[in-house]
Amino acid sequence: MSTKPSPQYDISGIEPLSNHSANPEFADVLQRHLARRQFLKGGVALAAAGFFGLSSSGCQPSKVASGVSHALVDTKSLLGFEAISTNRFDDITVPEGYQTQVILPWGTPLLANAASYQADASNTAADQAGQIGSHHDGMHFFPIDLASGGDNSAEGLLVINHEYCDPGILHSFGGAGLPRQADEVHKELAAHGVSVAHIQRQTDGKWQLLQQSRYNRRITGSTPMQLTGPVRGHSKLRTAYSPDGTATRGTLNNCAHGVTPWGTYLTCEENWAGLFVNYDAALPPEQRRYGVRNEHSIMHWETAARQDVSLQRFNASTVAASATEDFRNEPNNFGWIVEIDPFNPDSTPVKHTALGRFAHEGIIFAKAEAGKPLVAYSGDDARFEYIYKFVSSKPYQPETAGPHLLDSGTLYAARFNDDGSGEWLPLDINDADFAAKATAAGVHFTDQADLLINTRRAADIAGATKMDRPEWGAVHPDSNEVYFTLTNNTERHSSQRNAANPRANNSNGHIIRWREQSDNRFNWDIFLLSGDVYTSTPGQPMMLDDSNHHASPDGLWFDRNGLLWIQTDMSGSQLHSGPFGNNQMLVADPGRSLLKRFLVGPVGCEVTGVVMTPDCRTMFVNIQHPGEGSGPYSFSSTWPDRRARRPRSATVVITRKDGGIIGS
Ligand code: FEO
Ligand code: CA
Ligand code: CA
Repeated sequence: MSTKPSPQYDISGIEPLSNHSANPEFADVLQRHLARRQFLKGGVALAAAGFFGLSSSGCQPSKVASGVSHALVDTKSLLGFEAISTNRFDDITVPEGYQTQVILPWGTPLLANAASYQADASNTAADQAGQIGSHHDGMHFFPIDLASGGDNSAEGLLVINHEYCDPGILHSFGGAGLPRQADEVHKELAAHGVSVAHIQRQTDGKWQLLQQSRYNRRITGSTPMQLTGPVRGHSKLRTAYSPDGTATRGTLNNCAHGVTPWGTYLTCEENWAGLFVNYDAALPPEQRRYGVRNEHSIMHWETAARQDVSLQRFNASTVAASATEDFRNEPNNFGWIVEIDPFNPDSTPVKHTALGRFAHEGIIFAKAEAGKPLVAYSGDDARFEYIYKFVSSKPYQPETAGPHLLDSGTLYAARFNDDGSGEWLPLDINDADFAAKATAAGVHFTDQADLLINTRRAADIAGATKMDRPEWGAVHPDSNEVYFTLTNNTERHSSQRNAANPRANNSNGHIIRWREQSDNRFNWDIFLLSGDVYTSTPGQPMMLDDSNHHASPDGLWFDRNGLLWIQTDMSGSQLHSGPFGNNQMLVADPGRSLLKRFLVGPVGCEVTGVVMTPDCRTMFVNIQHPGEGSGPYSFSSTWPDRRARRPRSATVVITRKDGGIIGS
């Protein structure tokens, strides 16, 4: 998510800086690190191929969630297209030989009986609940025959996150203002969440929604959900809605996603904290450390509670005699990762508490191996927050794999040492080292569930490394190396630099990667320092230039051929002036140190969310918030409808005109 300029709703600064812990920095290690690592010398470069011994001879067989098991082309035939230039067109630009189709824009009727989209934004909340949500983000394509081991590339379920909404676009004339009207709030809740869309390629090559399909589904900010794992039933989850602390309503700020090895979808709750207000004199740590506000929420939903008591839940103040009579604990029901079975439209979404509570950007699984624990990684996207790893307590077995694997395990936070080594620090009250640190810090968690509700504090105590806003992660399909975008952090002072976050005032961002070693240790390096460099430096494997310079890397995804797709989320002045143009998507071949710009999005948008069909001949990319910050009376983008209409987030289908492999 970028900065969201909207004065009335104050949705700027939506990734609040909440880490004021005294967690140590590695202030003086940068120069030592730079001296040791040749590829960092120029300041902006792609790391040398083979630093971790990456094969440059092509991809080896690998298992991906789609059920596909090997690369489709040899590496040498990848990245054969000509990189496109930056631009500020209000359109999608792709390389020569490629074509695009826009599908599933915000407001598209999704359910069988859904209302048609009204271009003046006059659709009601009930209409929106049957239509595609707004602000598309993470996304996955599930082949329709996945359950039988198939890899259908012409029909499947496209599952899309809807991260947030912009009242200036969502409502006619921007809505009624303050206090908020309950019907507007309900429309906004319905614009959040997830869409499951059954789509099919037609004989003319165009993709189409099958609107009568029973799989089509909306999950919104109001959908009933269960909580599972160690925190289920905890006293800090109890509310007037769920006195036993086992259920809640809705998922919000659904940013990136994950795909389980058993073929379900995970949606990640990122910037939920700003949606709550707590007027109490002192906020509990599980709200304060996450940035819950005590004056008003960013969307002011609490002001509509007088019209509709169901909206009282956004006021987390202590207003009754007990927690089961008010919503003081409502924020504790958010900040989780939510599992959705797209093939079971009647299933209840489940929030998995063992994966920790923070501003989850997304989740990415390491290659699942039979008989070994399941491993997943998740970033906490705020300035100076951490990267986490979950390791299941039970071993993965393909025949029995399922949600239970996410219900128990150990959560770790990452420490990146200055010498290129790293450690996974267990966040476990029964770990002697952690317990000693907690005692020294004067923090007492009543139980492991209390620790998980306060995941950020636990990582502070453990001594994790404060990062420059961890966004998406991606696991190389062959080497199992993990790549993570660190989008930017302009708050980092020169005294706060460390080897893993080497820039002060890091406005451009970078990509870090690591390879697991034994005993919860890993080796890491910086794969790419984003930015704008036009000159090459002797000894550099590759420098950024006009064909690939960019800033604020965010979305990240490996295709089965081992290509790394990188999406940007620049905002503010970076977007409006300077060399980078509109937000874009690039693609890297890490094995050959190649990076090329593949797509440029329309005005004001963020490019986020990317996946392909198993045959790699159709790509889906999401365009979020075109024309952001404009409206409610005029719009800086009219993509994709044109004719002066309001902009709509949407999915772009990309194919080669010759039907070939995307990225080759
Ligand atoms: Fe929703 Fe951190 O991007
Ligand atoms: Ca993002
Ligand atoms: Ca972002």
